Amino acid sequence: MDKKIAIGCDHGGFKLKKRIIQHLTDKGIKITDYGSFSEESCDYPVIAKKVANEIANGVHDYGILVCGTGLGMAIVANKIRGIRAVTCFDSTTARMSKSHNDSNVLCLGERITGEYLALDIVDTWLQTSFSGGRHKRRVDMFED
Ligand code: RB5
Repeated sequence: MDKKIAIGCDHGGFKLKKRIIQHLTDKGIKITDYGSFSEESCDYPVIAKKVANEIANGVHDYGILVCGTGLGMAIVANKIRGIRAVTCFDSTTARMSKSHNDSNVLCLGERITGEYLALDIVDTWLQTSFSGGRHKRRVDMFED
């Protein structure tokens, strides 16, 4: 994997984020952690903006954001131009969000999705490529 990945979480996603970092690091995938760094209560918009800006500015190719539900992180990240953030609850939507929608930020909910499934979602999402073609035309329509 030659892609650069950024990751972030709030207190609601801290444990799952740690697990994802370990999982990807074990596979030799480099990942940059933008916090938060404990289970102390914090505000997810701060972390979502940090990670999303890094993707939008081209510092990293993909972002992974973990909170309690995966919802707040996606809402915030999608406010930033160039970000296509998706909350996925299964591997099929993870694959389709990359293949058809060229998603560049994956959001997960630690309180919703179990660890085993979450790691499968991450793997599927990272391994899937954008299909391009007619899907590129559609993505271009909302990126303009
Ligand atoms: C924090 O309690 C929770 O609201 C947050 O982790 C997230 O689920 C927001 O969407």
